[in-house]
Amino acid sequence: MEQSTAASRPWLLLLCLAVAATGGVLQARAQLDSKGFISVDCGLPGKASYVDGGTKLSYVSDAGFIDDTAGANQNISGQYIRPQLSRRYHDVRSFPDGTRNCYTLRSLVSGRKYLVRAAFLYGDYDGLGRLPVFDLHLGVNYWQTVNVSTPGFEVTAEAIVVVPDDFVQVCLVNTGAGTPFISALELRPLKMKFYPQVNLMQGLVLDVRLNLGPADLTDIVRYPEDPHDRVWIPWADPKEWMEISTTKQVDSEYDDFEVPTAVMQTAVTPLNASMKLEITWDPVPQPHDLSPGYFIIMHFSELQLLPSNALREFDININGVRLSEAIRLVYLGVGVIFNEKPYQDGNYNISIKATANSTLPPILNALELFSIMSMTNFGTDSRDVSAMTTIKTKYHVEKNWMGDPCAPKTMAWEKLMCSYDTGIPPRIRSVNLSSSGLNGDISPSFADLKALQHLDLSNNNLTGTILDTLSQLPLLKILDLSGNQLSGSIPSGILKRIQDGSLNLRYDNNSNLCTNANSCRPAKMKSKLPIYVGAPIVIIVVIVSVALTLFCLLRRKTPGLMKNSVKPQNETRNDGDTSLGLETRRFTYNEIERITNNLQQVLGKGGFGYVYDGFLEDGTQVAVKIRSESSNQGDKEFLAEVQILTRIHHKNLVSLIGFCKDGVHMALVYEFMSEGTLQDHIVGGDRNARCLTWRQRLKIAVESAQGLEYLHKGCNPPLIHRDVKATNILLNTRLEAKIADFGLSKAFNRDNESQVSTNVIVGTRGYMDPEYQTTGRPTTKSDVYSFGVVLLVLVTGKPPTMHNPRSIGIIEWVQRRLSKGNIEGVVDVRMHGDHDINSMWKAADIALKCTAHASARRPNMTDVVLQLQECLKLEEDHAGGNSNNNFYTGISSNDLSMRNDSYPTNQSTNVSQSSTSFEKEHNFGRVPTMDNGPAAR
Ligand SMILES: *[C@@H]1O[C@H](CO)[C@@H](O)[C@H](O)[C@H]1NC(C)=O
Ligand SMILES: *[C@@H]1O[C@H](CO)[C@@H](O)[C@H](O)[C@H]1NC(C)=O
Ligand SMILES: *[C@@H]1O[C@H](CO)[C@@H](O)[C@H](O)[C@H]1NC(C)=O
Ligand SMILES: *[C@@H]1O[C@H](CO)[C@@H](O)[C@H](O)[C@H]1NC(C)=O
Ligand SMILES: *[C@@H]1O[C@H](CO)[C@@H](O)[C@H](O)[C@H]1NC(C)=O
Ligand SMILES: *[C@@H]1O[C@H](CO)[C@@H](O)[C@H](O)[C@H]1NC(C)=O
Repeated sequence: MEQSTAASRPWLLLLCLAVAATGGVLQARAQLDSKGFISVDCGLPGKASYVDGGTKLSYVSDAGFIDDTAGANQNISGQYIRPQLSRRYHDVRSFPDGTRNCYTLRSLVSGRKYLVRAAFLYGDYDGLGRLPVFDLHLGVNYWQTVNVSTPGFEVTAEAIVVVPDDFVQVCLVNTGAGTPFISALELRPLKMKFYPQVNLMQGLVLDVRLNLGPADLTDIVRYPEDPHDRVWIPWADPKEWMEISTTKQVDSEYDDFEVPTAVMQTAVTPLNASMKLEITWDPVPQPHDLSPGYFIIMHFSELQLLPSNALREFDININGVRLSEAIRLVYLGVGVIFNEKPYQDGNYNISIKATANSTLPPILNALELFSIMSMTNFGTDSRDVSAMTTIKTKYHVEKNWMGDPCAPKTMAWEKLMCSYDTGIPPRIRSVNLSSSGLNGDISPSFADLKALQHLDLSNNNLTGTILDTLSQLPLLKILDLSGNQLSGSIPSGILKRIQDGSLNLRYDNNSNLCTNANSCRPAKMKSKLPIYVGAPIVIIVVIVSVALTLFCLLRRKTPGLMKNSVKPQNETRNDGDTSLGLETRRFTYNEIERITNNLQQVLGKGGFGYVYDGFLEDGTQVAVKIRSESSNQGDKEFLAEVQILTRIHHKNLVSLIGFCKDGVHMALVYEFMSEGTLQDHIVGGDRNARCLTWRQRLKIAVESAQGLEYLHKGCNPPLIHRDVKATNILLNTRLEAKIADFGLSKAFNRDNESQVSTNVIVGTRGYMDPEYQTTGRPTTKSDVYSFGVVLLVLVTGKPPTMHNPRSIGIIEWVQRRLSKGNIEGVVDVRMHGDHDINSMWKAADIALKCTAHASARRPNMTDVVLQLQECLKLEEDHAGGNSNNNFYTGISSNDLSMRNDSYPTNQSTNVSQSSTSFEKEHNFGRVPTMDNGPAAR
């Protein structure tokens, strides 16, 4: 244990010679009373207030100091209401919900010194008789643990701090040992010269503040005797100590601590001159500081006018170490001794002893004992805090938004992501208020969150215009305003950011927004503006240990294939396997947690676990599939998917950005497909949901067929997906289709394809090739079969298996109806008959050929792609050639519903044409003849 000499321990001896400093002038402002005090009776109903009988201070209810919705007011049990019990203890506010609930004391002066006091009396307010233990925090720093060990006793916590901001928060933290509650909260400004140990990094927590030798042992000195409302507890020990007092005024105006005269006018001395005054205590280890440091402050004043031959002179020893010189006092003068550096020891023994020459025993008037409160945790950047507070208030956000937004990390506000860099306050980098029921306009305060990288306000009821000031946020990468009622146009600053690639803006589903696709005024932008402009993805190259000898032809499309293909809107951007050069990134599980904000939002359930929403550091939105712990198949499927997706890249296969294999944790990080699965758009969606047009369905069919074709023909050996179905076809913002979920996929040698067999039959009911089910040998034709089912689902809008009332497969259902020669009997009525009838017949025909029972009679995917492209061509010709306008753009659904009205159908004339189209097809001889084709043939 460190021991030191008096010289090395810088004790200050301030006697009455001290020069009075001019105390700061305290200004009364809102929330503060005329003395700059805040006095809150927590639990007082409504906006009530009253004047406290003892102090004559006005106590107000806590309305306005805490969110209305936080906690509940309760009265303590009548049995604990003693006549002398101060009224503020009669009721409490308790906090059964939330880990952290905070009071905010405002209108303070940043950098000034304050005393903050919280008071607690349990009084069995909940009738449960359960005494709670909970933590108090001052802002983002631990203050102390409140241990209510007796139901009828007051417990108080007092801190002296320098506040960094113009407000301070007092937070009650539930540590799992009972419901936090509070009776009263008080704030008193102090002069800067008081308690010089206190600074921005270090506060004091009061252990004890004693008024020694009082006349009346029940007489607590506080306001108004102490203008700063410190509470001085009367203390005496008649067995060891003698009380002395005076009625004369003590010179407290020279006291740097301005201890009230009433306190200084009484003191204790030992009963016998030869005895010492002894004060001992054991330090109390704190949860965050097992060996807390202490500050001791002793206040002295000579209360007796001594004759000339008398001398009061004494030494002070702490744990046997003598402090300073021998001390002599001046009559009615005031002296104080305190340590400047904290005292840290195993136990404490203050001994005040008369010197040899002294004729009188030592004296002590008052004693204060404090332990250290570390204030070194940084709160969130104050500009961010004030912006977030404005936002929270404006939108009445009722999440766990209490206390500091980012700190401590474990209690950061839901839906926020912060950056924590050592040595500087945390900053808010992401705000996700999607689907939070926000009303009104976009708060200008968002533009004050200068470190913001990602702002998601989608799917709210926001009105007004898009603020151009948001373009001033230097780091903003994603701004999602989709699904609101915003109006006006996209401001020029934002357009500029989009064009230079530094900002992704989503603004679809704002019907009043003026955009190029929904022009209520001349479009400012070229039509090339994609809805979701991707910032370039930076991908780190890692070496993946892939054992699979899988080689995919990195081929461009042959001219022949290109000839009839429909050009997607962004041909130039997406064509040519842009991801070819990219390798896959490996993530740690920590990174996965960060990306998904601790698995906050589930997007759906995939083959071996849940899929979560996430954002990479650069703001790119991703989907993260995490292997569920319980999945047995998980490992194998996970590896299969990594191996396949790290090697193959095609615009119609969902691309893998990276993966995580970190101990038991496995995860896959995919590109984000905003429109979800095809299933959602066809079968799963409710009747009122936006219905895909036939053209959109065909386009999806062509694209997913291209993806499969690539697996079968572009890879050597070919890859069999084995689980083609509507839920494994994903759509992006532009409704471009990509095949997903390669967990069951396998590579099979093309040459002896028929020889391969596996032990387990895998796939999904309703989509599964019957031949594969009997032989156990999957082939590329198994995928063709499943794709045929998908095609039938697209045509009919029905699930692969129906129950009406007996179970019937979609294939049989379609065959039966087509055998009556009526295509309209199978077509999804939600398309309102708006389709080219030949195109529809042809598609149905392809689907039935694909689902032929014998695999040899099924076409291969190359044939299917070509046939579907012809279907699409027919449909486009029917629609009149203004093709691009009718593609879903994500801006507005208006054009989709408008289309249905513009093209009334004429079924009777079209039916006869359908047979021609089939004849033609047979002449090309591409598709094998089927036994069970439509009767129209
Ligand atoms: C507490 O008691 C007061 C009257 O003393 C009453 O007005 C108030 O409603 C009570 N509050 C609760 C929460 O019971
Ligand atoms: C609270 O106080 C009681 C009695 O003083 C003690 O037994 C208990 O350990 C304390 N609890 C905590 C968490 O400090
Ligand atoms: C104080 O001193 C006197 C004599 O000096 C002695 O008789 C008495 O017992 C002492 N009191 C105590 C409390 O020790
Ligand atoms: C306190 O220290 C003094 C010496 O400074 C010693 O005489 C006394 O016994 C100590 N008391 C305790 C309780 O340790
Ligand atoms: C006591 O007083 C004498 C005479 O005034 C002085 O010489 C001596 O140093 C003093 N002793 C102490 C311990 O102060
Ligand atoms: C938006 O406002 C409309 C009417 O004002 C209301 O019907 C709808 O529920 C609101 N939507 C949300 C998400 O709050």
